[in-house]
Amino acid sequence: MPAPTKTGYADVLIGLQYGDEGKARVVDLLAADYDIVARFNGGVNAGHTIATANGEVRLRQVPSGVLHAHVALYIGSGCVVSLEQLAKEIGMLASLGIDLSGRFSISDRCPVVQPVHIAQDHLHGREIGTTGNGIGPCYADLAARVRDGGRCAFQLRDLASDPAGVIAQMHGAAPWSDHAERSASAKRMHAAWEVVRGFVRDNPLWLTNRVERGARVLFEGAQSVMLDVLHGQQPWVTSSHTLPSYAYVGGDLPCKYHRKTVGVAKAIVSRVGDGPLPGEFGGKRSELYCAGAAREGLTRDEEAAGIDVRALLAGDDEFDLGVALRISSNEYGTGTGRPRRIGRLDLAQLRVTVKQAGVDEIYLNKCDSLAAFSFSRGGTIPLIVGAGGEGDTGCLRLPAFDAVAIPQGADAPVPPELLAFLAMVEDAIGVPLRGAGLGPRRDQMLMMKQPDKD
Ligand code: IMP
Repeated sequence: MPAPTKTGYADVLIGLQYGDEGKARVVDLLAADYDIVARFNGGVNAGHTIATANGEVRLRQVPSGVLHAHVALYIGSGCVVSLEQLAKEIGMLASLGIDLSGRFSISDRCPVVQPVHIAQDHLHGREIGTTGNGIGPCYADLAARVRDGGRCAFQLRDLASDPAGVIAQMHGAAPWSDHAERSASAKRMHAAWEVVRGFVRDNPLWLTNRVERGARVLFEGAQSVMLDVLHGQQPWVTSSHTLPSYAYVGGDLPCKYHRKTVGVAKAIVSRVGDGPLPGEFGGKRSELYCAGAAREGLTRDEEAAGIDVRALLAGDDEFDLGVALRISSNEYGTGTGRPRRIGRLDLAQLRVTVKQAGVDEIYLNKCDSLAAFSFSRGGTIPLIVGAGGEGDTGCLRLPAFDAVAIPQGADAPVPPELLAFLAMVEDAIGVPLRGAGLGPRRDQMLMMKQPDKD
């Protein structure tokens, strides 16, 4: 009799703030212990950056386990697919010597982002600062199903059964300025489909069968809990569900395989696009400035030109402090290059988010960025802690540490100010802190001791 196989499980990794928490580097770090890394929501609006010895790898749709050759990659049906961008990403990875054949699968139920969706997003999404990739209109059309007597949503399985007909229908809908533009777009979509089609699976049980046979899955959330279409603050949200339970809808796996939820946060909070950001340095002024800078396409180099970061840090204008932190910690959109709005770490909000999402453990990235506060007046790290803050302000200040004290290497001593900060974070949020990011590379994650393992 064959030995009974051990059933696998799934863990879900999500962002806890406003996206850009550095989820990809944590996925890359943890992926060695999984067999499959899978996406379940969002699409090309996500910008996932992994730092390697040979430079950065920037991903938008391919799951961030890609650098581990043994890991299979899956895009679940809750993701919307931008064909041209995905074909480009596959080509970019091939140019780095990463061959996806045999290890990359896409659900054939993924809705396809159409030219009309991008046009609509450019027209209306500007009001809330979307990434302009047509993601919202694509999800909206999926729910609408039909418009003007015809289908308005198409899945990859529709393309698979009638590529020419479906591409023609998709190109009937968009507002084209001329015929040549329309046929060039259709041609590009045909070419992209030829690249992508070999990865598309028409088996909704693909992931379930693998897990039943023992596969360990890491679901990689895109965006973050605060941007959930239902639970985030409408209208300044993305258009998919970002909570971990959605991994089991959009990721094509029964929820009985769930093991734990891993949250990723960032020690300095950032947000791109409009919407509330409690604790933003410079408040409304920063929000308006960043929106204008995004419209004008201001780059990091342009913003940093002629700026003395240390002088801004030492001043008493919070707006300037935000500019200095953005430049010193390089907070610009991965996909769009937009300058990100910067705020202090909000532990009160994080505590609620952790509870709401059922997070079991967290990683806190960009702790090295906090060293900038050593140049600020008073040399302290400002935090929002809610009730019980100093003098009932809801805020707290902890001593900052010097950048030169940031440990390089696993055995290097950790400055006591950093340890005190991390202990404070763990205590405030109520779940174990597993790692603290001190730089983008794999070896720059300070792993915390786990009492049950060490
Ligand atoms: P959309 O997802 O392009 O519709 O944009 C809606 C909102 O979500 C905007 O505020 C975007 O800036 C934000 N957003 C979408 N994807 C990301 C991401 O990957 N990181 C951070 N913010 C994002």
